[in-house]
Amino acid sequence: MRTIQDPALSREWHPAAVAAEVQDKPLAVQLLGEKLVLFRTGSGVKAFRDLCIHRGVPLSLGKVEKDHLVCAYHGWRYDADGACVCIPALPAGQAIPLKARTTTFYCMESLGFVWVALEEPHEKRPVIEPLVDHSLLPIVMGPYPVEASAPRVVENFLDVSHLMFVHEGMLGDAGYAEINDYEVRMEDGVLRSGEIRVYQPDPDGRGRGVTNSYIYEILSPMSVRLIKHTEGSDEQFHLFLMVLPETEHSCTAFMLQLRNYAEEVPDSVFIDFQNTLMAQDKLIVERQNPELLPLDLQAELHLKCDRVSIAYRRMLKELGVTFGTD
Ligand code: FES
Ligand SMILES: [Fe+2]
Repeated sequence: MRTIQDPALSREWHPAAVAAEVQDKPLAVQLLGEKLVLFRTGSGVKAFRDLCIHRGVPLSLGKVEKDHLVCAYHGWRYDADGACVCIPALPAGQAIPLKARTTTFYCMESLGFVWVALEEPHEKRPVIEPLVDHSLLPIVMGPYPVEASAPRVVENFLDVSHLMFVHEGMLGDAGYAEINDYEVRMEDGVLRSGEIRVYQPDPDGRGRGVTNSYIYEILSPMSVRLIKHTEGSDEQFHLFLMVLPETEHSCTAFMLQLRNYAEEVPDSVFIDFQNTLMAQDKLIVERQNPELLPLDLQAELHLKCDRVSIAYRRMLKELGVTFGTD
Protein backbone atom coordinates (compact mmCIF):
# COMPACT_ATOMS: atom_id res chain seq x y z
CA MET A 1 0.00 0.00 0.00
CA ARG A 2 1.24 3.45 -0.90
CA THR A 3 2.20 5.49 2.16
CA ILE A 4 1.24 9.12 2.22
CA GLN A 5 4.33 11.28 2.02
CA ASP A 6 2.53 14.48 2.79
CA PRO A 7 2.54 15.21 6.51
CA ALA A 8 1.28 18.71 5.82
CA LEU A 9 -2.01 17.24 4.59
CA SER A 10 -2.25 13.95 6.46
CA ARG A 11 -2.31 15.88 9.76
CA GLU A 12 -5.09 18.25 8.66
CA TRP A 13 -8.82 17.78 9.24
CA HIS A 14 -10.47 17.22 5.86
CA PRO A 15 -14.20 17.37 5.14
CA ALA A 16 -15.08 13.81 4.12
CA ALA A 17 -18.87 14.04 3.80
CA VAL A 18 -21.96 16.06 4.61
CA ALA A 19 -22.87 14.74 8.08
CA ALA A 20 -26.53 14.21 7.17
CA GLU A 21 -25.43 11.77 4.47
CA VAL A 22 -23.69 9.48 6.93
CA GLN A 23 -26.58 7.53 8.38
CA ASP A 24 -27.19 3.80 8.73
CA LYS A 25 -25.27 2.81 5.59
CA PRO A 26 -21.48 2.73 5.37
CA LEU A 27 -20.16 5.41 3.03
CA ALA A 28 -16.99 4.98 0.95
CA VAL A 29 -14.76 8.05 0.63
CA GLN A 30 -11.18 8.70 -0.38
CA LEU A 31 -8.58 10.93 1.29
CA LEU A 32 -5.02 11.38 0.02
CA GLY A 33 -5.23 8.16 -1.95
CA GLU A 34 -6.47 6.21 1.07
CA LYS A 35 -9.83 4.47 0.75
CA LEU A 36 -11.94 4.97 3.86
CA VAL A 37 -15.37 3.95 5.06
CA LEU A 38 -17.47 6.24 7.23
CA PHE A 39 -20.31 5.00 9.39
CA ARG A 40 -22.42 6.25 12.25
CA THR A 41 -22.53 4.67 15.72
CA GLY A 42 -24.12 5.68 19.02
CA SER A 43 -20.78 7.27 19.93
CA GLY A 44 -20.47 9.32 16.75
CA VAL A 45 -19.18 8.90 13.24
CA LYS A 46 -16.18 6.61 12.65
CA ALA A 47 -13.64 6.34 9.84
CA PHE A 48 -11.93 3.02 9.10
CA ARG A 49 -9.73 1.81 6.28
CA ASP A 50 -12.19 0.50 3.72
CA LEU A 51 -10.74 -2.99 3.69
CA CYS A 52 -11.65 -6.11 5.58
CA ILE A 53 -8.51 -7.70 7.01
CA HIS A 54 -9.85 -11.18 6.21
CA ARG A 55 -10.00 -11.21 2.40
CA GLY A 56 -9.62 -7.59 1.38
CA VAL A 57 -13.25 -6.79 0.63
CA PRO A 58 -14.28 -3.13 1.02
CA LEU A 59 -16.12 -2.76 4.32
CA SER A 60 -18.32 -0.16 2.64
CA LEU A 61 -20.06 -3.10 0.89
CA GLY A 62 -21.28 -4.26 4.28
CA LYS A 63 -23.79 -2.91 6.76
CA VAL A 64 -23.99 -1.26 10.14
CA GLU A 65 -25.70 -3.27 12.86
CA LYS A 66 -25.82 -2.35 16.56
CA ASP A 67 -22.85 0.01 16.23
CA HIS A 68 -20.83 -2.68 14.46
CA LEU A 69 -19.60 -2.61 10.90
CA VAL A 70 -20.35 -6.00 9.36
CA CYS A 71 -18.37 -7.23 6.37
CA ALA A 72 -20.45 -8.31 3.36
CA TYR A 73 -18.31 -11.37 2.58
CA HIS A 74 -18.10 -13.58 5.71
CA GLY A 75 -19.86 -11.42 8.25
CA TRP A 76 -16.91 -10.42 10.43
CA ARG A 77 -18.06 -7.67 12.78
CA TYR A 78 -15.92 -4.69 13.76
CA ASP A 79 -16.76 -2.57 16.79
CA ALA A 80 -16.57 1.24 16.90
CA ASP A 81 -12.85 1.04 17.83
CA GLY A 82 -12.03 -1.12 14.84
CA ALA A 83 -11.59 -4.39 16.79
CA CYS A 84 -13.07 -7.50 15.24
CA VAL A 85 -15.53 -8.76 17.84
CA CYS A 86 -17.27 -11.57 15.97
CA ILE A 87 -16.14 -14.11 13.37
CA PRO A 88 -19.23 -16.17 12.58
CA ALA A 89 -17.25 -19.12 11.13
CA LEU A 90 -15.29 -19.65 14.36
CA PRO A 91 -16.53 -22.50 16.54
CA ALA A 92 -18.15 -21.23 19.77
CA GLY A 93 -15.65 -20.52 22.52
CA GLN A 94 -12.73 -20.04 20.20
CA ALA A 95 -10.96 -16.73 20.80
CA ILE A 96 -10.78 -14.06 18.13
CA PRO A 97 -7.15 -13.29 17.29
CA LEU A 98 -6.06 -10.01 18.91
CA LYS A 99 -4.53 -8.98 15.62
CA ALA A 100 -7.98 -8.98 14.07
CA ARG A 101 -8.61 -5.27 13.86
CA THR A 102 -8.83 -2.70 11.13
CA THR A 103 -7.02 0.62 10.86
CA THR A 104 -8.99 3.55 12.23
CA PHE A 105 -8.56 7.23 11.53
CA TYR A 106 -9.31 10.47 13.37
CA CYS A 107 -12.91 11.41 12.77
CA MET A 108 -15.32 14.03 14.08
CA GLU A 109 -18.51 15.80 13.20
CA SER A 110 -18.71 19.59 13.15
CA LEU A 111 -20.69 22.32 11.37
CA GLY A 112 -22.72 19.80 9.38
CA PHE A 113 -19.70 17.94 8.00
CA VAL A 114 -17.76 14.81 8.88
CA TRP A 115 -14.05 15.57 9.17
CA VAL A 116 -11.23 13.05 8.94
CA ALA A 117 -7.48 13.17 9.54
CA LEU A 118 -5.19 10.30 8.55
CA GLU A 119 -2.64 11.04 11.25
CA GLU A 120 -2.78 12.87 14.57
CA PRO A 121 -4.07 16.30 13.52
CA HIS A 122 -2.07 19.50 14.14
CA GLU A 123 -5.19 21.13 15.59
CA LYS A 124 -7.91 19.67 17.79
CA ARG A 125 -10.70 21.08 15.61
CA PRO A 126 -11.13 21.97 11.91
CA VAL A 127 -9.49 25.30 11.07
CA ILE A 128 -12.77 26.97 10.03
CA GLU A 129 -14.53 26.22 13.33
CA PRO A 130 -13.52 29.28 15.38
CA LEU A 131 -14.20 31.56 12.40
CA VAL A 132 -17.84 30.62 11.95
CA ASP A 133 -20.17 33.40 13.09
CA HIS A 134 -23.10 31.55 14.62
CA SER A 135 -25.36 34.60 14.39
CA LEU A 136 -25.47 34.10 10.60
CA LEU A 137 -27.71 31.68 8.70
CA PRO A 138 -25.72 28.62 7.60
CA ILE A 139 -26.18 26.45 4.51
CA VAL A 140 -24.14 23.30 4.00
CA MET A 141 -23.31 22.83 0.31
CA GLY A 142 -21.85 19.90 -1.60
CA PRO A 143 -20.51 17.39 -2.20
CA TYR A 144 -19.14 18.70 -5.51
CA PRO A 145 -16.92 16.02 -7.10
CA VAL A 146 -14.31 17.53 -9.41
CA GLU A 147 -11.89 15.72 -11.73
CA ALA A 148 -9.05 18.09 -10.98
CA SER A 149 -6.37 18.38 -8.33
CA ALA A 150 -7.58 19.86 -5.04
CA PRO A 151 -5.11 22.81 -5.13
CA ARG A 152 -6.37 23.78 -8.61
CA VAL A 153 -9.92 23.89 -7.22
CA VAL A 154 -8.89 25.94 -4.18
CA GLU A 155 -6.97 28.36 -6.36
CA ASN A 156 -9.95 28.76 -8.69
CA PHE A 157 -12.02 29.89 -5.70
CA LEU A 158 -9.34 32.46 -4.81
CA ASP A 159 -9.15 33.80 -8.34
CA VAL A 160 -11.05 37.07 -8.67
CA SER A 161 -10.38 37.91 -12.31
CA HIS A 162 -12.28 34.88 -13.68
CA LEU A 163 -15.63 36.05 -12.27
CA MET A 164 -16.32 38.34 -15.24
CA PHE A 165 -15.82 35.55 -17.77
CA VAL A 166 -16.64 32.15 -16.29
CA HIS A 167 -19.57 33.57 -14.29
CA GLU A 168 -20.51 36.42 -16.60
CA GLY A 169 -23.96 37.80 -15.94
CA MET A 170 -23.87 36.42 -12.41
CA LEU A 171 -20.69 37.21 -10.49
CA GLY A 172 -19.20 39.59 -13.02
CA ASP A 173 -19.48 41.57 -16.23
CA ALA A 174 -16.75 41.50 -18.89
CA GLY A 175 -17.20 45.26 -19.29
CA TYR A 176 -15.95 45.71 -15.70
CA ALA A 177 -13.03 43.32 -15.68
CA GLU A 178 -10.32 45.59 -14.25
CA ILE A 179 -9.10 44.58 -10.80
CA ASN A 180 -8.04 47.24 -8.29
CA ASP A 181 -4.67 46.96 -6.59
CA TYR A 182 -4.69 45.08 -3.30
CA GLU A 183 -2.24 43.45 -0.89
CA VAL A 184 -2.17 40.04 0.77
CA ARG A 185 -1.07 40.06 4.41
CA MET A 186 -0.58 37.49 7.14
CA GLU A 187 -2.86 38.54 10.02
CA ASP A 188 -3.56 36.29 13.05
CA GLY A 189 -2.22 33.27 11.20
CA VAL A 190 -4.51 33.89 8.22
CA LEU A 191 -3.35 35.06 4.78
CA ARG A 192 -5.86 37.78 3.96
CA SER A 193 -6.35 39.93 0.87
CA GLY A 194 -7.28 43.57 0.95
CA GLU A 195 -10.64 44.61 -0.44
CA ILE A 196 -11.28 43.92 -4.11
CA ARG A 197 -14.26 45.70 -5.65
CA VAL A 198 -16.30 43.77 -8.17
CA TYR A 199 -19.41 44.82 -10.04
CA GLN A 200 -21.78 41.84 -9.90
CA PRO A 201 -24.95 41.63 -12.01
CA ASP A 202 -26.50 38.85 -9.90
CA PRO A 203 -24.18 37.76 -7.07
CA ASP A 204 -26.54 35.46 -5.17
CA GLY A 205 -29.37 34.40 -7.43
CA ARG A 206 -31.74 37.18 -6.39
CA GLY A 207 -31.23 39.04 -9.67
CA ARG A 208 -29.89 42.29 -8.14
CA GLY A 209 -26.85 44.04 -9.58
CA VAL A 210 -24.50 45.53 -6.94
CA THR A 211 -20.88 46.44 -6.36
CA ASN A 212 -19.37 44.09 -3.81
CA SER A 213 -16.09 44.11 -2.00
CA TYR A 214 -14.34 40.76 -1.74
CA ILE A 215 -11.83 39.70 0.90
CA TYR A 216 -10.19 36.31 0.49
CA GLU A 217 -8.67 34.36 3.37
CA ILE A 218 -6.38 31.37 3.07
CA LEU A 219 -6.86 29.39 6.26
CA SER A 220 -4.99 26.19 5.44
CA PRO A 221 -3.95 24.30 2.28
CA MET A 222 -7.51 23.10 1.62
CA SER A 223 -9.72 25.57 3.54
CA VAL A 224 -10.37 29.15 2.46
CA ARG A 225 -13.02 31.80 2.96
CA LEU A 226 -14.56 34.60 0.95
CA ILE A 227 -16.01 37.54 2.89
CA LYS A 228 -18.28 39.68 0.77
CA HIS A 229 -19.71 43.09 1.63
CA THR A 230 -22.27 44.88 -0.47
CA GLU A 231 -21.59 48.59 -0.73
CA GLY A 232 -24.12 50.69 1.17
CA SER A 233 -25.71 47.73 2.95
CA ASP A 234 -25.33 45.75 6.20
CA GLU A 235 -25.57 42.47 4.39
CA GLN A 236 -22.93 39.97 5.37
CA PHE A 237 -21.97 36.97 3.32
CA HIS A 238 -19.26 34.44 4.15
CA LEU A 239 -18.44 31.46 2.00
CA PHE A 240 -16.05 28.78 3.21
CA LEU A 241 -14.63 26.33 0.71
CA MET A 242 -13.15 23.11 2.01
CA VAL A 243 -11.73 20.64 -0.49
CA LEU A 244 -11.20 16.94 0.11
CA PRO A 245 -8.08 15.80 -1.81
CA GLU A 246 -8.97 12.29 -2.97
CA THR A 247 -6.35 11.40 -5.56
CA GLU A 248 -3.76 13.74 -7.04
CA HIS A 249 -6.18 14.37 -9.91
CA SER A 250 -9.57 14.35 -8.22
CA CYS A 251 -11.23 15.93 -5.24
CA THR A 252 -14.57 16.82 -3.73
CA ALA A 253 -15.46 20.36 -2.71
CA PHE A 254 -17.76 21.31 0.15
CA MET A 255 -18.97 24.76 1.10
CA LEU A 256 -20.47 26.46 4.10
CA GLN A 257 -22.36 29.62 3.23
CA LEU A 258 -23.35 32.09 5.96
CA ARG A 259 -25.50 35.17 5.54
CA ASN A 260 -27.53 37.68 7.58
CA TYR A 261 -30.14 38.56 4.95
CA ALA A 262 -32.97 37.01 2.91
CA GLU A 263 -34.15 34.85 5.79
CA GLU A 264 -37.35 34.12 3.90
CA VAL A 265 -35.53 32.77 0.83
CA PRO A 266 -35.37 28.96 0.90
CA ASP A 267 -31.92 27.35 1.05
CA SER A 268 -32.61 25.66 -2.29
CA VAL A 269 -32.33 29.03 -4.11
CA PHE A 270 -28.78 29.55 -2.83
CA ILE A 271 -27.87 25.91 -3.38
CA ASP A 272 -29.13 25.93 -6.99
CA PHE A 273 -27.18 29.12 -7.62
CA GLN A 274 -23.99 27.61 -6.18
CA ASN A 275 -24.53 24.43 -8.21
CA THR A 276 -24.60 26.53 -11.39
CA LEU A 277 -21.40 28.38 -10.42
CA MET A 278 -19.68 25.13 -9.56
CA ALA A 279 -20.63 23.59 -12.92
CA GLN A 280 -19.12 26.62 -14.67
CA ASP A 281 -15.89 26.32 -12.68
CA LYS A 282 -15.68 22.56 -13.30
CA LEU A 283 -15.60 23.15 -17.06
CA ILE A 284 -12.44 25.18 -16.56
CA VAL A 285 -10.54 23.45 -13.76
CA GLU A 286 -11.05 19.96 -15.18
CA ARG A 287 -9.23 21.07 -18.32
CA GLN A 288 -6.32 23.01 -16.81
CA ASN A 289 -2.87 21.91 -17.80
CA PRO A 290 -0.67 20.94 -16.05
CA GLU A 291 -3.21 19.15 -13.92
CA LEU A 292 -1.08 19.49 -10.80
CA LEU A 293 -0.74 23.03 -9.46
CA PRO A 294 2.77 24.32 -10.29
CA LEU A 295 4.40 25.76 -7.16
CA ASP A 296 7.34 27.16 -9.07
CA LEU A 297 6.23 30.75 -9.64
CA GLN A 298 8.17 30.84 -12.91
CA ALA A 299 5.99 28.08 -14.36
CA GLU A 300 2.98 30.25 -15.22
CA LEU A 301 2.57 33.95 -15.83
CA HIS A 302 1.20 36.01 -12.94
CA LEU A 303 -0.31 39.47 -12.78
CA LYS A 304 -0.68 41.81 -9.83
CA CYS A 305 -4.33 40.81 -9.58
CA ASP A 306 -3.21 37.19 -9.03
CA ARG A 307 -1.66 38.04 -5.67
CA VAL A 308 -4.00 35.73 -3.76
CA SER A 309 -3.05 32.81 -6.01
CA ILE A 310 0.63 33.65 -5.64
CA ALA A 311 0.28 33.77 -1.84
CA TYR A 312 -1.53 30.41 -1.96
CA ARG A 313 1.19 28.75 -4.06
CA ARG A 314 3.89 30.16 -1.76
CA MET A 315 2.10 28.84 1.29
CA LEU A 316 1.77 25.35 -0.19
CA LYS A 317 5.47 25.39 -1.00
CA GLU A 318 6.45 26.55 2.49
CA LEU A 319 4.31 23.87 4.10
CA GLY A 320 5.74 21.24 1.77
CA VAL A 321 2.41 20.21 0.25
CA THR A 322 3.16 17.72 -2.51
CA PHE A 323 -0.21 16.04 -3.12
CA GLY A 324 -1.85 17.64 -6.17
CA THR A 325 1.07 20.02 -6.74
CA ASP A 326 4.09 19.99 -8.98
S1 FES B 1 -13.55 -10.64 3.65
FE1 FES B 1 -14.56 -9.63 5.23
S2 FES B 1 -15.29 -11.21 6.44
FE2 FES B 1 -14.18 -12.24 4.95
FE1 LIG C 1 -15.59 30.44 -10.12
